Amino acid sequence: MEVHLAEGHAARSLAADVRAGLTATPKSLPPKWFYDAYGSELFERITRLDEYYPTRAEREILAARAPEIARRTSAHTLVELGSGSSEKTRLLLDAMRGNATLRQIVALDVSETALREASAALHAEYPSAAVHGVVGDFTEHLGLLPGEPPRLVAFLGGTIGNLLPDERAKFLGSVRDVLQPGEWLLLGTDVVKDRDVLVRAYDDAAGVTAEFNRNVLRVLNRELSADFDVDAFTHVALWDADNEWIEMRLRADRAMRVHIPALALEVEFAEGEELRTEISAKFRRDAIGRELADAGFDMQQWWTDSEGRFGVSLSRASD
Ligand code: SAH
Ligand code: TRP
Repeated sequence: MEVHLAEGHAARSLAADVRAGLTATPKSLPPKWFYDAYGSELFERITRLDEYYPTRAEREILAARAPEIARRTSAHTLVELGSGSSEKTRLLLDAMRGNATLRQIVALDVSETALREASAALHAEYPSAAVHGVVGDFTEHLGLLPGEPPRLVAFLGGTIGNLLPDERAKFLGSVRDVLQPGEWLLLGTDVVKDRDVLVRAYDDAAGVTAEFNRNVLRVLNRELSADFDVDAFTHVALWDADNEWIEMRLRADRAMRVHIPALALEVEFAEGEELRTEISAKFRRDAIGRELADAGFDMQQWWTDSEGRFGVSLSRASD
Protein backbone atom coordinates (compact mmCIF):
# COMPACT_ATOMS: atom_id res chain seq x y z
CA MET A 1 0.00 0.00 0.00
CA GLU A 2 1.26 3.50 -0.81
CA VAL A 3 -0.15 6.83 0.22
CA HIS A 4 0.87 9.82 -1.93
CA LEU A 5 0.53 13.25 -0.39
CA ALA A 6 0.35 16.65 -1.97
CA GLU A 7 2.48 18.03 0.93
CA GLY A 8 1.51 21.37 2.51
CA HIS A 9 -1.12 21.76 -0.13
CA ALA A 10 -4.04 21.21 2.23
CA ALA A 11 -3.07 23.98 4.63
CA ARG A 12 -2.54 26.53 1.85
CA SER A 13 -5.74 25.74 0.09
CA LEU A 14 -7.82 25.79 3.32
CA ALA A 15 -6.57 29.31 4.09
CA ALA A 16 -7.30 30.53 0.57
CA ASP A 17 -10.76 28.91 0.48
CA VAL A 18 -11.77 30.31 3.86
CA ARG A 19 -10.62 33.82 3.05
CA ALA A 20 -12.41 33.83 -0.30
CA GLY A 21 -15.60 32.24 1.05
CA LEU A 22 -16.02 34.27 4.24
CA THR A 23 -15.29 37.64 2.63
CA ALA A 24 -17.82 37.00 -0.19
CA THR A 25 -21.52 37.93 -0.15
CA PRO A 26 -23.29 35.64 0.54
CA LYS A 27 -20.71 33.74 2.60
CA SER A 28 -19.84 30.17 1.62
CA LEU A 29 -17.33 27.41 2.34
CA PRO A 30 -16.37 24.55 0.00
CA PRO A 31 -17.57 21.13 1.22
CA LYS A 32 -14.26 19.31 1.09
CA TRP A 33 -13.33 20.81 4.48
CA PHE A 34 -16.06 18.80 6.25
CA TYR A 35 -13.94 15.70 6.08
CA ASP A 36 -11.43 15.62 8.90
CA ALA A 37 -11.31 12.33 10.87
CA TYR A 38 -14.48 13.22 12.80
CA GLY A 39 -16.25 14.47 9.66
CA SER A 40 -15.49 11.24 7.80
CA GLU A 41 -16.84 9.26 10.77
CA LEU A 42 -20.00 11.39 10.82
CA PHE A 43 -20.48 10.82 7.09
CA GLU A 44 -20.32 7.05 7.68
CA ARG A 45 -23.05 7.49 10.31
CA ILE A 46 -25.13 9.46 7.77
CA THR A 47 -24.91 6.55 5.32
CA ARG A 48 -26.60 4.32 7.91
CA LEU A 49 -29.50 6.67 8.73
CA ASP A 50 -33.04 5.58 7.79
CA GLU A 51 -33.61 8.92 6.05
CA TYR A 52 -30.42 8.78 3.96
CA TYR A 53 -31.50 6.45 1.13
CA PRO A 54 -28.68 7.15 -1.44
CA THR A 55 -26.14 4.72 0.01
CA ARG A 56 -28.59 1.82 0.21
CA ALA A 57 -30.02 2.53 -3.23
CA GLU A 58 -26.60 2.74 -4.86
CA ARG A 59 -25.49 -0.45 -3.10
CA GLU A 60 -28.55 -2.25 -4.48
CA ILE A 61 -27.61 -1.18 -8.02
CA LEU A 62 -23.97 -2.17 -7.67
CA ALA A 63 -24.90 -5.53 -6.14
CA ALA A 64 -27.10 -6.26 -9.16
CA ARG A 65 -24.79 -4.87 -11.88
CA ALA A 66 -21.19 -5.34 -10.70
CA PRO A 67 -20.65 -8.60 -12.65
CA GLU A 68 -21.92 -6.95 -15.84
CA ILE A 69 -19.73 -3.89 -15.22
CA ALA A 70 -16.65 -6.07 -14.69
CA ARG A 71 -17.39 -8.05 -17.87
CA ARG A 72 -18.13 -5.06 -20.10
CA THR A 73 -15.12 -3.02 -19.01
CA SER A 74 -12.55 -5.82 -18.45
CA ALA A 75 -10.80 -3.16 -16.37
CA HIS A 76 -7.42 -3.95 -14.80
CA THR A 77 -7.48 -0.89 -12.55
CA LEU A 78 -10.30 0.45 -10.45
CA VAL A 79 -9.74 4.14 -9.70
CA GLU A 80 -12.10 5.52 -7.06
CA LEU A 81 -12.47 9.27 -6.55
CA GLY A 82 -13.77 10.57 -3.20
CA SER A 83 -13.45 7.00 -2.00
CA GLY A 84 -14.17 7.49 1.73
CA SER A 85 -14.48 4.02 3.28
CA SER A 86 -14.73 2.33 -0.19
CA GLU A 87 -17.48 0.20 1.33
CA LYS A 88 -19.73 -0.22 -1.76
CA THR A 89 -16.62 -0.43 -3.93
CA ARG A 90 -16.03 -3.98 -2.67
CA LEU A 91 -18.96 -5.09 -4.84
CA LEU A 92 -17.07 -3.90 -7.93
CA LEU A 93 -13.75 -5.30 -6.74
CA ASP A 94 -15.26 -8.71 -6.00
CA ALA A 95 -16.75 -8.83 -9.50
CA MET A 96 -13.43 -7.77 -11.09
CA ARG A 97 -11.60 -10.41 -9.10
CA GLY A 98 -14.23 -12.97 -10.12
CA ASN A 99 -13.58 -11.95 -13.72
CA ALA A 100 -9.81 -12.37 -13.15
CA THR A 101 -9.11 -8.85 -14.47
CA LEU A 102 -8.35 -6.97 -11.21
CA ARG A 103 -4.71 -5.85 -10.88
CA GLN A 104 -4.64 -2.41 -9.28
CA ILE A 105 -6.79 -0.33 -6.96
CA VAL A 106 -6.27 3.43 -6.78
CA ALA A 107 -8.24 5.42 -4.20
CA LEU A 108 -8.15 9.22 -4.05
CA ASP A 109 -9.63 11.20 -1.19
CA VAL A 110 -9.01 14.49 0.57
CA SER A 111 -9.48 12.77 3.95
CA GLU A 112 -6.17 11.22 4.92
CA THR A 113 -7.58 9.24 7.85
CA ALA A 114 -10.41 7.72 5.80
CA LEU A 115 -7.97 6.92 2.99
CA ARG A 116 -5.38 5.25 5.25
CA GLU A 117 -8.01 3.05 6.86
CA ALA A 118 -9.64 2.11 3.58
CA SER A 119 -6.33 1.44 1.79
CA ALA A 120 -5.11 -0.85 4.57
CA ALA A 121 -8.40 -2.77 4.54
CA LEU A 122 -8.37 -3.11 0.75
CA HIS A 123 -4.76 -4.28 0.82
CA ALA A 124 -5.72 -7.02 3.30
CA GLU A 125 -8.88 -8.06 1.43
CA TYR A 126 -7.41 -8.00 -2.11
CA PRO A 127 -3.85 -9.25 -1.55
CA SER A 128 -3.25 -9.98 -5.23
CA ALA A 129 -3.96 -6.35 -6.26
CA ALA A 130 -1.61 -3.37 -5.84
CA VAL A 131 -3.32 -0.71 -3.71
CA HIS A 132 -2.43 2.98 -4.09
CA GLY A 133 -3.94 5.59 -1.81
CA VAL A 134 -3.66 9.18 -3.04
CA VAL A 135 -4.45 12.05 -0.69
CA GLY A 136 -5.60 14.80 -2.98
CA ASP A 137 -8.40 16.89 -4.43
CA PHE A 138 -10.32 15.34 -7.31
CA THR A 139 -10.84 18.78 -8.82
CA GLU A 140 -7.06 19.33 -9.03
CA HIS A 141 -4.95 16.21 -8.73
CA LEU A 142 -6.23 13.72 -11.30
CA GLY A 143 -2.91 13.99 -13.14
CA LEU A 144 -1.22 12.24 -10.18
CA LEU A 145 -3.21 9.04 -10.61
CA PRO A 146 -1.25 5.88 -11.35
CA GLY A 147 -2.89 2.80 -12.89
CA GLU A 148 -2.63 0.35 -15.69
CA PRO A 149 -5.23 0.63 -18.50
CA PRO A 150 -7.94 -0.25 -19.12
CA ARG A 151 -9.14 1.71 -16.11
CA LEU A 152 -12.59 2.05 -14.61
CA VAL A 153 -13.00 5.35 -12.75
CA ALA A 154 -15.73 5.11 -10.11
CA PHE A 155 -17.23 8.28 -8.65
CA LEU A 156 -19.95 7.12 -6.29
CA GLY A 157 -22.26 8.40 -3.59
CA GLY A 158 -23.70 11.23 -5.66
CA THR A 159 -20.61 13.28 -4.78
CA ILE A 160 -20.65 14.81 -8.27
CA GLY A 161 -23.77 16.65 -7.08
CA ASN A 162 -21.62 18.55 -4.58
CA LEU A 163 -20.01 20.45 -7.47
CA LEU A 164 -21.65 23.50 -9.02
CA PRO A 165 -22.64 23.08 -12.70
CA ASP A 166 -19.55 24.85 -14.06
CA GLU A 167 -17.26 22.95 -11.66
CA ARG A 168 -18.99 19.74 -12.72
CA ALA A 169 -18.35 20.37 -16.42
CA LYS A 170 -14.70 21.14 -15.70
CA PHE A 171 -14.38 18.05 -13.49
CA LEU A 172 -15.89 15.70 -16.11
CA GLY A 173 -13.60 17.20 -18.75
CA SER A 174 -10.54 16.61 -16.58
CA VAL A 175 -11.53 12.98 -15.93
CA ARG A 176 -11.90 12.53 -19.70
CA ASP A 177 -8.47 14.16 -20.22
CA VAL A 178 -6.65 11.56 -18.10
CA LEU A 179 -8.38 8.62 -19.81
CA GLN A 180 -7.62 6.93 -23.10
CA PRO A 181 -10.48 6.35 -25.55
CA GLY A 182 -12.29 3.18 -24.51
CA GLU A 183 -11.64 3.53 -20.77
CA TRP A 184 -14.61 3.86 -18.40
CA LEU A 185 -16.44 6.10 -15.94
CA LEU A 186 -18.97 4.72 -13.46
CA LEU A 187 -20.93 7.60 -12.01
CA GLY A 188 -23.43 7.57 -9.11
CA THR A 189 -26.07 10.29 -9.28
CA ASP A 190 -28.98 10.93 -6.97
CA VAL A 191 -32.16 11.66 -8.92
CA VAL A 192 -34.81 14.39 -8.67
CA LYS A 193 -37.68 13.21 -6.47
CA ASP A 194 -40.24 14.26 -3.89
CA ARG A 195 -39.06 17.32 -1.98
CA ASP A 196 -39.85 15.93 1.49
CA VAL A 197 -37.88 12.75 0.88
CA LEU A 198 -34.91 14.85 -0.23
CA VAL A 199 -35.04 17.31 2.63
CA ARG A 200 -35.32 14.52 5.22
CA ALA A 201 -32.20 12.86 3.78
CA TYR A 202 -30.27 16.07 4.57
CA ASP A 203 -31.98 16.96 7.85
CA ASP A 204 -32.35 13.74 9.79
CA ALA A 205 -34.29 13.42 13.03
CA ALA A 206 -31.26 12.37 15.09
CA GLY A 207 -29.32 15.47 14.02
CA VAL A 208 -26.30 13.62 12.59
CA THR A 209 -26.33 15.74 9.42
CA ALA A 210 -26.57 18.91 11.51
CA GLU A 211 -23.53 17.77 13.49
CA PHE A 212 -21.73 17.01 10.22
CA ASN A 213 -22.55 20.41 8.76
CA ARG A 214 -21.35 22.27 11.86
CA ASN A 215 -18.14 20.21 11.85
CA VAL A 216 -16.71 22.47 9.17
CA LEU A 217 -16.62 25.26 11.79
CA ARG A 218 -14.73 22.98 14.19
CA VAL A 219 -12.18 22.34 11.45
CA LEU A 220 -11.69 26.11 11.06
CA ASN A 221 -11.36 26.54 14.83
CA ARG A 222 -8.68 23.86 15.00
CA GLU A 223 -6.74 24.51 11.79
CA LEU A 224 -6.92 28.32 11.70
CA SER A 225 -7.35 29.06 15.44
CA ALA A 226 -10.76 30.60 14.64
CA ASP A 227 -13.26 31.18 17.46
CA PHE A 228 -16.58 30.14 15.93
CA ASP A 229 -19.20 29.42 18.60
CA VAL A 230 -20.21 26.20 16.85
CA ASP A 231 -23.42 25.74 18.87
CA ALA A 232 -24.65 29.20 17.85
CA PHE A 233 -25.19 27.99 14.26
CA THR A 234 -28.31 26.12 13.13
CA HIS A 235 -28.26 23.53 10.36
CA VAL A 236 -30.51 24.42 7.39
CA ALA A 237 -31.29 22.09 4.44
CA LEU A 238 -33.56 23.43 1.72
CA TRP A 239 -34.68 22.28 -1.71
CA ASP A 240 -33.93 24.75 -4.51
CA ALA A 241 -36.57 23.75 -7.06
CA ASP A 242 -35.15 25.93 -9.86
CA ASN A 243 -31.66 24.50 -9.65
CA GLU A 244 -32.86 21.06 -8.52
CA TRP A 245 -30.38 20.89 -5.68
CA ILE A 246 -30.43 20.59 -1.92
CA GLU A 247 -28.61 23.47 -0.33
CA MET A 248 -27.00 23.15 3.08
CA ARG A 249 -26.44 26.24 5.17
CA LEU A 250 -25.42 27.27 8.67
CA ARG A 251 -27.56 30.07 10.12
CA ALA A 252 -26.08 32.37 12.77
CA ASP A 253 -28.53 32.38 15.72
CA ARG A 254 -27.26 35.78 16.85
CA ALA A 255 -25.01 38.55 15.58
CA MET A 256 -21.36 37.69 16.09
CA ARG A 257 -17.83 38.61 15.19
CA VAL A 258 -15.51 35.70 14.47
CA HIS A 259 -11.73 36.04 14.70
CA ILE A 260 -9.48 34.00 12.43
CA PRO A 261 -5.94 34.83 13.60
CA ALA A 262 -4.21 32.53 11.11
CA LEU A 263 -5.66 34.69 8.32
CA ALA A 264 -5.52 38.00 10.23
CA LEU A 265 -9.23 38.18 9.45
CA GLU A 266 -12.36 39.18 11.38
CA VAL A 267 -15.75 38.21 10.02
CA GLU A 268 -19.11 39.67 11.04
CA PHE A 269 -22.30 37.65 11.03
CA ALA A 270 -25.69 39.37 11.32
CA GLU A 271 -28.38 37.59 13.32
CA GLY A 272 -30.00 35.06 10.97
CA GLU A 273 -27.26 35.35 8.35
CA GLU A 274 -26.67 32.13 6.45
CA LEU A 275 -23.40 30.62 5.33
CA ARG A 276 -23.68 28.17 2.39
CA THR A 277 -21.70 25.01 3.05
CA GLU A 278 -22.81 22.63 0.33
CA ILE A 279 -25.12 21.88 -2.53
CA SER A 280 -26.20 18.37 -3.45
CA ALA A 281 -27.58 18.47 -6.99
CA LYS A 282 -30.11 15.89 -8.13
CA PHE A 283 -30.12 14.58 -11.70
CA ARG A 284 -32.26 13.39 -14.58
CA ARG A 285 -31.06 10.68 -16.93
CA ASP A 286 -31.16 12.68 -20.15
CA ALA A 287 -29.51 15.78 -18.72
CA ILE A 288 -26.60 13.88 -17.19
CA GLY A 289 -26.23 11.95 -20.46
CA ARG A 290 -25.82 15.28 -22.27
CA GLU A 291 -23.30 16.56 -19.72
CA LEU A 292 -21.30 13.37 -20.14
CA ALA A 293 -21.45 13.69 -23.93
CA ASP A 294 -20.25 17.32 -23.70
CA ALA A 295 -17.25 16.08 -21.71
CA GLY A 296 -16.38 13.37 -24.25
CA PHE A 297 -18.13 10.36 -22.77
CA ASP A 298 -20.66 8.03 -24.32
CA MET A 299 -23.21 6.97 -21.67
CA GLN A 300 -23.86 3.33 -22.46
CA GLN A 301 -25.88 2.21 -19.45
CA TRP A 302 -28.15 3.83 -16.90
CA TRP A 303 -29.41 1.73 -14.01
CA THR A 304 -31.67 2.68 -11.12
CA ASP A 305 -32.60 0.85 -7.90
CA SER A 306 -35.97 -0.87 -7.65
CA GLU A 307 -37.62 2.28 -6.26
CA GLY A 308 -36.06 4.59 -8.87
CA ARG A 309 -34.38 6.75 -6.24
CA PHE A 310 -30.77 6.72 -7.47
CA GLY A 311 -29.00 6.27 -10.81
CA VAL A 312 -25.67 4.73 -11.76
CA SER A 313 -24.38 5.29 -15.28
CA LEU A 314 -21.55 3.56 -17.13
CA SER A 315 -19.84 5.67 -19.78
CA ARG A 316 -17.04 4.99 -22.23
CA ALA A 317 -14.42 7.64 -23.04
CA SER A 318 -15.17 8.52 -26.68
CA ASP A 319 -12.59 8.17 -29.48
N1 SAH B 1 -17.66 7.41 -2.05
C1 SAH B 1 -18.14 7.29 -0.68
C2 SAH B 1 -18.00 8.60 0.10
C3 SAH B 1 -18.85 9.74 -0.36
S1 SAH B 1 -18.72 11.18 0.70
C4 SAH B 1 -19.58 6.84 -0.71
O1 SAH B 1 -20.15 6.73 -1.78
O2 SAH B 1 -20.15 6.60 0.36
C5 SAH B 1 -17.64 12.19 -0.25
C6 SAH B 1 -16.17 11.74 -0.16
O3 SAH B 1 -15.42 12.59 -1.03
C7 SAH B 1 -15.56 11.89 1.22
O4 SAH B 1 -14.79 10.74 1.51
C8 SAH B 1 -14.69 13.13 1.11
O5 SAH B 1 -13.56 13.08 1.97
C9 SAH B 1 -14.31 13.15 -0.35
N2 SAH B 1 -14.10 14.47 -0.93
C10 SAH B 1 -14.91 15.55 -0.84
N3 SAH B 1 -14.44 16.56 -1.58
C11 SAH B 1 -13.29 16.11 -2.15
C12 SAH B 1 -12.33 16.68 -3.05
N4 SAH B 1 -12.47 17.93 -3.50
N5 SAH B 1 -11.29 15.90 -3.45
C13 SAH B 1 -11.14 14.63 -2.99
N6 SAH B 1 -12.01 14.04 -2.15
C14 SAH B 1 -13.07 14.77 -1.73
N1 TRP C 1 -22.17 13.38 -1.42
C1 TRP C 1 -23.10 13.32 -0.30
C2 TRP C 1 -24.45 13.83 -0.77
O1 TRP C 1 -24.52 14.85 -1.43
C3 TRP C 1 -22.52 14.11 0.84
C4 TRP C 1 -23.45 14.45 1.96
C5 TRP C 1 -24.46 13.72 2.47
C6 TRP C 1 -23.45 15.63 2.70
N2 TRP C 1 -25.07 14.40 3.50
C7 TRP C 1 -24.46 15.54 3.65
C8 TRP C 1 -22.67 16.74 2.66
C9 TRP C 1 -24.71 16.58 4.53
C10 TRP C 1 -22.90 17.75 3.55
C11 TRP C 1 -23.92 17.69 4.48
O2 TRP C 1 -25.46 13.20 -0.51
